[in-house]
Amino acid sequence: MTRKPPLKFRQFFRNFVGKYIDRRLFTYILSRKIKLFAGSYPLIVSIINHKGGVGKSCIATNLAHALAMRGKKVLVLDCDPQCNTSSIFSPAGDIAEPKSLYDIFAHGTPVDECIYGTSYKNIDTVNNSPQISHLEVDLYQDVKKSYQILRKSIRKYANEHYDITIIDNNPSLGLYTINSLIASDCAIIPIEAGCRYSLDGFVAALEAISSIAARVNPELRFLKAVINKADGRTSISRASVDHIQRRFAAKVFATVIHTDTKIKEAVAQKITVLRHSPSCTASHKFRSLANEVLGLL
Ligand SMILES: Nc1ncnc2c1ncn2[C@@H]1O[C@H](COP(=O)(O)OP(=O)(O)OP(=O)(O)O)[C@@H](O)[C@H]1O
Ligand SMILES: [Mg+2]
Repeated sequence: MTRKPPLKFRQFFRNFVGKYIDRRLFTYILSRKIKLFAGSYPLIVSIINHKGGVGKSCIATNLAHALAMRGKKVLVLDCDPQCNTSSIFSPAGDIAEPKSLYDIFAHGTPVDECIYGTSYKNIDTVNNSPQISHLEVDLYQDVKKSYQILRKSIRKYANEHYDITIIDNNPSLGLYTINSLIASDCAIIPIEAGCRYSLDGFVAALEAISSIAARVNPELRFLKAVINKADGRTSISRASVDHIQRRFAAKVFATVIHTDTKIKEAVAQKITVLRHSPSCTASHKFRSLANEVLGLL
């Protein structure tokens, strides 16, 4: 049984609220605060950039792992037909013909039938299958309906069962990435230091976010950009990091991820760098990125 506060206090509180604060506004603020204090404000985050190879999958997987290590319940959803993230977070155990995002798009399979536990504590996954590429032509027959598939399928379930859902995306702003943005609350955009095309991809991603926010998903916002593959040994990389940080200022995470062979070693073994080498610089950076993300929620 919950204990009620003393009557005098309740009366004073009610008078104060009635007099000075609009009731609905107060209830709204209170509910938001309770969610924040309880640390259970669920969020769906897309990792996007129009440019390939900038580190979307690397950041999606390692950020997910770092958040899970902080005790957050994380769902990782691989929206990229290349299935790179699926190779890192494959379903734990020996599951014959596991269901995937393909089943959600092709057959409308409920999302809970496509979610599997992984060998990582606090991380569940919805994997992808290369087969999903073949669906695109059919899905374009009714784009209005097709753009909403992911939102309708995952949003309610993910918000009820996970603290954070991270969606990795392919290097395009096509049907699957649009699905991902329509299903999300916010987006993180990785930028590769010293890569001009990655900046163009960043701008294209920003435009996609504002267009989708204006037309379909008003909850969607750009969280921040994260600089990846910085290389302090080259002047072009140093100049690029400096330029991005000055130009986008508060919209860039303070954590900069450097080029690190430990990341490549981890990918070769199909594990996160946090598992491969927990004390290396890259792992430290991903933990610091996770802290920054949690600080924004
Ligand atoms: N900071 C880093 N240091 C070293 N290697 C990195 C780093 N970030 C990513 N890589 C490597 O660069 C390659 C591309 O990274 P990743 O697959 O994460 O990019 P992506 O944006 O997901 O690519 P795609 O657009 O094809 O999905 C991978 O081999 C990955 O291991
Ligand atoms: Mg990728």
